[in-house]
Amino acid sequence: MSTDHRAASKKYWDDSHGSQSYDRSVIKTDDWLERFDDIIMNTDKPILDLGCGGGNDTLYLISKGKRVIPCDLSEIAIENIRKNFPEIGEAYCFDMLDGIPFEDGSFDVVIADLCLHYFTEKDTERILKEIRRILTSGGHLIFRVNSLHDVNHGAGKGTEIEKHVFETESGTLKRFFDEDDTRYIFRDFDIEYLNEEIMSRYKFEKRLFRGCVKNC
Ligand SMILES: C[S@@+](CC[C@H](N)C(=O)[O-])C[C@H]1O[C@@H](n2cnc3c(N)ncnc32)[C@H](O)[C@@H]1O
Repeated sequence: MSTDHRAASKKYWDDSHGSQSYDRSVIKTDDWLERFDDIIMNTDKPILDLGCGGGNDTLYLISKGKRVIPCDLSEIAIENIRKNFPEIGEAYCFDMLDGIPFEDGSFDVVIADLCLHYFTEKDTERILKEIRRILTSGGHLIFRVNSLHDVNHGAGKGTEIEKHVFETESGTLKRFFDEDDTRYIFRDFDIEYLNEEIMSRYKFEKRLFRGCVKNC
């Protein structure tokens, strides 16, 4: 019988968010969004933090005085967000694979930090189409995704079910991007910034692509 990747992912993320402390005082931000502060500061609409997890980017955006709508697959993550950020009016739990439940053109800025690399190419394309739909024309998606060189976090491990997409031991999917993959998957946007970088927020350094793309 083939693995139910969606069910495995839900369980994995609920377990993960349930087992970690997300008290606001210990949430770490890192400076990856600073480069895009002009874009972030230029919108009067709320900013969507897709796959918000513990709220690292939500915290950064709040510190900049922005309105944020954090969203995640895991209800436990969203409960933690509601507890840690009582000032936030809206926070939602949904699976991006079911679509992104906002009206067309709702956002000038969508943040997707380390949450767009859990899908096959076909599903990633569907999610990106949804992100384009909810962005205004000229709106920006700011993201980070796993690099193919991210050996400390699973690159090359597991069963490759399609090019650069691996099934892990827990039955979840992980995708790793090279520059060509990244440029290809974001081809319907204008790519304004794309760079392979190292993030040191985790115990072991993480290699990723940081990008900023414009909806055209
Ligand atoms: C590596 S964490 C990143 C969390 C946060 N953005 C950050 O950078 O700290 C990935 C997050 O994506 C969420 N996620 C995974 N698959 C998802 C899906 N299909 N729909 C919505 N969120 C998803 C997970 O629950 C998890 O919180």
